[in-house]
Amino acid sequence: MKKAKPNKKKPFLTDIKTLRRRAREHIERGAVTEGYRGDPEVVVKILNEALATEIVCVLRYKRHYFMANGIHAQSVAQEFLQHANEEQGHADEISVRIVQLGGEPNLNPEGMLTRSHSEYVEGQSLVDMIKENLVAERIAIDSYSEMIAYVTDKDPTTRRMLEGILAVEEEHAEDMASLLQTLDEHK
Ligand SMILES: [Fe+2]
Ligand SMILES: [Fe+2]
Repeated sequence: MKKAKPNKKKPFLTDIKTLRRRAREHIERGAVTEGYRGDPEVVVKILNEALATEIVCVLRYKRHYFMANGIHAQSVAQEFLQHANEEQGHADEISVRIVQLGGEPNLNPEGMLTRSHSEYVEGQSLVDMIKENLVAERIAIDSYSEMIAYVTDKDPTTRRMLEGILAVEEEHAEDMASLLQTLDEHK
């Protein structure tokens, strides 16, 4: 096989010297290098909306966990608690990434609900609660899909994180849908 000639005009990879020089410039920018193709400000803004969404989901699931009662309450409440903890995990992952991008996680309770894509609905019965969570999960699935479509290859690390979270939100939606079905069968 012929060895491919290196293209002098357009090197595929940036040479080490240039990489090292670039890394030394703007070192105060932490993980955001000159090779970063996203707009960190926009990505941070998007991530702060995702963060608010997750926090609102934590609060809603926690409220439902404590308020669940009835024949099937035990197992359903456990599911709510597990989701609350996973949403908290997402909120933490997102906060870490915001800081890596040179931003600040907005955890100010003021305006949290406005920044959040999902809503905080208390719900009266167990079925109401499950339905509200299902709606919120479906909103989360749509908004994470949009964020992924925006970020694409401009920021692969953020994209991978969002894809991981999206997969869990899909599981959450599935869990809520099957709980609804089970409760329906036991009516
Ligand atoms: Fe989440
Ligand atoms: Fe979720």
